Amino acid sequence: MCGIFGCVCKKENVAPLIRKGLKRLEYRGYDSVGEATIKDGKLFIKKDAGKIDEVHKKCNLDDLPGRIGVGHTRWATHGAPSSINAHPQFDCSSPPRFAVVHNGIIDNFAELKKELEEKGHVFKSKTDTEVIAHLIEEHFVQKPQADARKTVAKTGISKLEEAVSKSLSQLDGSYALAAISTYEPDKIVCARNESPLVLGISENGQFFASDIPAFLPLTKNAIFMRNGELAVLKDDSFTIKNISDQRIILREPKLLDWTPEMAEKKGYTHFMLKEIHEQPEALRNTLRLQDKYLDLLTTFLDRAHEVIMVACGTSYHACLAASYMFSKVSYLATHPVIASEFSEQHSRSANIDSTILAVSQSGETADTLAAVETARQRAATILGLTNVVGSTLTRVSRVYIVQQSGPEIGVAATKTFTSQLSVLSQLAIQLAKKRGKISTEEIDLLEDKIQLIPEMVEQIIESQESKVSSLAKKLRDEKCFFFLGRGISVATALEARLKLMELAYVPSIAFPAGESKHGPISLIQEGFPVFFICPPGETRKTLIGNISEMKAREANIITVCEEGDEEIIQLSDDYIEVPRGLPEVLSPITYVVPLQIFAYRMATEKGYSPDMPRNLAKSVTVR
Ligand code: F6R
Repeated sequence: MCGIFGCVCKKENVAPLIRKGLKRLEYRGYDSVGEATIKDGKLFIKKDAGKIDEVHKKCNLDDLPGRIGVGHTRWATHGAPSSINAHPQFDCSSPPRFAVVHNGIIDNFAELKKELEEKGHVFKSKTDTEVIAHLIEEHFVQKPQADARKTVAKTGISKLEEAVSKSLSQLDGSYALAAISTYEPDKIVCARNESPLVLGISENGQFFASDIPAFLPLTKNAIFMRNGELAVLKDDSFTIKNISDQRIILREPKLLDWTPEMAEKKGYTHFMLKEIHEQPEALRNTLRLQDKYLDLLTTFLDRAHEVIMVACGTSYHACLAASYMFSKVSYLATHPVIASEFSEQHSRSANIDSTILAVSQSGETADTLAAVETARQRAATILGLTNVVGSTLTRVSRVYIVQQSGPEIGVAATKTFTSQLSVLSQLAIQLAKKRGKISTEEIDLLEDKIQLIPEMVEQIIESQESKVSSLAKKLRDEKCFFFLGRGISVATALEARLKLMELAYVPSIAFPAGESKHGPISLIQEGFPVFFICPPGETRKTLIGNISEMKAREANIITVCEEGDEEIIQLSDDYIEVPRGLPEVLSPITYVVPLQIFAYRMATEKGYSPDMPRNLAKSVTVR
C-alpha cells in the first residue's frame, strides 16, 4: 500500500499542496517520499528514503516550481526503501521526460522489464513501477507539435493518453497510477485497476489521490474512479474514459461532508475497524506473491533437518496455525516457539542444520530478532516473513517474503495476521507440491479454495458485523471467557482470546477443547460464556462432544460455525456463521474475522480505545 497525490492547478507552486496532501496519506506508507513537477518544459524532482517531514527537512520539497505535479509516499513492496526506489519513477531520457507514481503491484513486471531491456531501456531502480515509465516512453512516438495537435483533434486522444493506455494494456496486477510528461505539460493521466483512486474537482484545478483526505482541505467535490478507468486532468477540466474502448464516461462529482479527521480513517471510527475491513484487499495482495519467492523459501524448508518458527503474540499464533498446515499439507514437522523463549529452549541445540522461519509483521520485534541472532550465531539458516521491506528482519534473513498488507496503524494486529496465514498456507501448499505427499487433486482443491478467501472475508464482514456487535452488547459485562477449538482452531482460539484481552481488558482463557476435563471445566457455572470455533472437518465430531460437556454444565455456548451447520447451531445459545466450503486447514483465515470484530466491539462497548490499548505499543523493540 502506498499513497499517491498530485494536481494540475491554475496558479503556480503546487509543491507545498502536494507535500501536505501526501502527509495526509502517510498512514498508507511512510518509508520514502518523492515529488515531480513540470515548469518550462522541464521536470523537477525531489525524492528520498524517510518520512515526509524528514525528507522535507533535508531537501525542502516545497521549492519545486510549476502548476502541475505528482507525489508519492511509499510502503515498499519491490526494492528496499531508498532514494532510487522512491517514486516518481522515470523513463530513460536525461533529463527525464516522463514521471510516474503508482500504488499497487505489477505482477508481470519482471517479464516486461526483460523485454524493455532487450529494446535498450536502462533501469535504475528495483521497483515494479519503473516498467510503467519505460513502457510509456516506448509507446510515446514522438511527432512534431503540429502533427500531435492534429492527432488530438482527429481522435480526441492525446499522445500521452494513448501511450498510457497502451502501457496499461500490457500490465497484469493492481494499480492506481498517474503520469506526467514534459511533452504535454498541461495534463495528468491517471488510471485505476484494483487500487483506490479518487479525483478532487475544483475551480482552481484538479486533483487525484489514493484517498480523500489528501485533497479534502482543497475541495469537497470527489469522483471515485472505478476499475478499468482512466482520467485526463487539466487545470480547467477532466475527462474519464473506459480504458479498453476509450468510451467517455460521464460522472458527476459527489459533495463530501467529511471532516479531514474522519476521512483519514475513511469514515471508520477507528483504524482497527478500517483495517478489519481492509482484509479482503490485503488478502488479495497475498495471492499475488511471485511464485519464485514461494519456491525459494520452500526449497529451504524442504531441505531442512528441523524447522523452528519463532514469533511473538499474534505472529506466534500464525506460526502455530502454520505448524498444522505444514504437517497436514506438506508432511513437514515444524516447531512454533515464542521468540522470547527461544534462547532458553534452543540456544544449544540450534545448529547448521536448523532452519528458522521468523515471522514478524514489523520485522523489528526485539524478542524475534534476538532469537534470530542466537540462531545465526549457531550457523542456522534464517528465513523471514514480514510486512516491512527494509526492516531488520529482511536484512538478517537469507530469504524473506513480504506479505504486502500495507501499514497497520491500530496496535492490535488484524489484517497482518490473516495475511500471514494466507502466505504461510501458500508456502505449505507449495511445499506439498515439491514433496508429492498429497494428491494433485487435493493440491488443486486447496489452491482453488484459497482464491475464494478474500470474498468470503468480505461476506463475513458484511453479513455478521451487526450480529457480532449485538453479541458484544449482550456480553459486555462478562468477567471471563473461554475460547476453545481443536486442531488448527486452537490457534484461532488463542488469537481471539488475545484480541479480547488486549483491547477490552477481559481476562480470558484459550486452550485445546480436549483439555477441558483435565482441569479448566471446574470454572464452569451457569451462564459462563464459552466460545467454540467449529469449522467442518476432522475435529468437528469430537468438538461436538466437548460442546455438549459444557452445555450439560449450563455454560453459555457461543459458536463460530459454517453457515447452516444445524447440529452446531442447535447446541448454541448464540452463533456466528462463516461461509461454507473452506477446508479446515485454511479455516483460521476466515474464522478469526468475526472474533476480531467481537473484541473490537467489546472494547468500544466498554468505552476503551481499540487503536491504543493501555501499556501496549505497535512494535515492541525492547526485550
Ligand atoms: C497483538 C499484536 C502483538 C504482535 C507482537 C509481534 O494484537 O499485535 O501481539 O503480534 O507484538 O509483533 P510483530 O509481528 O511485529 O513481530
